[in-house]
Amino acid sequence: MRDSNSAFDDQPGKPHDSQLYHIDYYSLPNVYVLVLLEDTTPEHGPWTFLPRSLSQTVKDKLGYWKQGRGYRVSDDEVYSIADPKEVIEFCGPRGTVLFIESSGCIHFGSRNSIKPRFQLMLGYTGACRTDFSETFMQPKVYPIRASDSRLRKMVLQKNLLEF
Ligand SMILES: [Fe+2]
Repeated sequence: MRDSNSAFDDQPGKPHDSQLYHIDYYSLPNVYVLVLLEDTTPEHGPWTFLPRSLSQTVKDKLGYWKQGRGYRVSDDEVYSIADPKEVIEFCGPRGTVLFIESSGCIHFGSRNSIKPRFQLMLGYTGACRTDFSETFMQPKVYPIRASDSRLRKMVLQKNLLEF
């Protein structure tokens, strides 16, 4: 389950990381089944993407996934090729489901989620991954506040569950 909430963002209002356009590279194909656990609107920072064929055009024209090209892409770069009218925001009532190939569609999510977004993400990743960043990158540490929900504390404070 994923909880996206700008209240916990140390740079709210400034898109960063997965809030910027990118195409997942760690598995080909990589497929997600996204299930909205609450009614979701643009204020929830929905999963946002371009259709696959247009994504591939953007990828080719920007030289994305080529040497020397950054992983994250600005909106200006994407919209220099794609019409913003083609953008699809995954909004809808609770229970709405999206099947998406995140290794084929350029996308971002959790951007400026004024209201918390709760969505279930079921991912298909092949046995052969091309992403080893978890073996050498330091995991981000999220602060735990006294006012945080019990669920958030349970997720962030692993010792809380030890007996
Ligand atoms: Fe992604």
